Amino acid sequence: MQNGLVHLHNLLRWVIIILLLVSIFKSYSGWKSGRSFTASDKRIWLFTMVAAHITLLLGILQVFVGRYGILTTELPEGVTVMKDKFYRFFWVEHPLMMIIAIVLITLGRGMSKKAVPDTVKFKKAFWFFIFALIIILIAVPWPFREGVARPLFPGI
Ligand code: HEM
Repeated sequence: MQNGLVHLHNLLRWVIIILLLVSIFKSYSGWKSGRSFTASDKRIWLFTMVAAHITLLLGILQVFVGRYGILTTELPEGVTVMKDKFYRFFWVEHPLMMIIAIVLITLGRGMSKKAVPDTVKFKKAFWFFIFALIIILIAVPWPFREGVARPLFPGI
C-alpha cells in the first residue's frame, strides 16, 4: 500500500509535467495569437490542477506517515533536520517548493474563471504555469541529485 502510494506520487510527476507543458504551450499561443479561450483550454487547465492536487494529497501522506514520515521516523542520534541533506530535502525543501508550485498552478487555472479579456487570461496563466514548472523541475528528486536521488519511474 505504502509503496503503491509512493509509486503513484512518482508517476503523477510525469502527468503534471506533460499537462503543464501543454497548458504552457496553449496559453502562450492563445496569448500571442489573440484567439478566444475555449472549453479545451479550460479542460486542460483543470486536469493540470487536479493532477497537482492529487499529488499534493499523496505528498502530505508521505511527509507525515510515509517511509521517512515526520511522525513515523526517529531521526538518527545526532542528526538535525536542517543539517541533514536528506531530511531537509524531503521534510522541508521538496514539500515547500511543491506547495508553492501547486498554488501557482491553482492560480493559473483560476484565470479561466476570471472576468477578464481572453488575452489577459492566457498571459497571466502562462506566467503562473511557467513558474510552477520551473519550481517543480528544481524540486523533483531526479536520479542525478546527490543524496536525494529517486528513480525516474516507479521501481526502476
Ligand atoms: C507537483 C508536486 C510534486 C511532485 C512532482 C513530486 C514528485 C516527487 C517524486 C518524483 C518523488 C520520488 C518518489 C519515489 O521515490 O519514487 C517524491 C517523493 C516525495 N515527495 Fe513529492 N512531489 C510533489 C509534491 C509533494 C508534496 C506537496 C509533498 C509534501 C507535502 C511531497 C512529499 C514527498 C515525500 C515525503 C517524498 C519521499 C517519499 C518516499 O521516498 O518515501 N511531495 N515526490
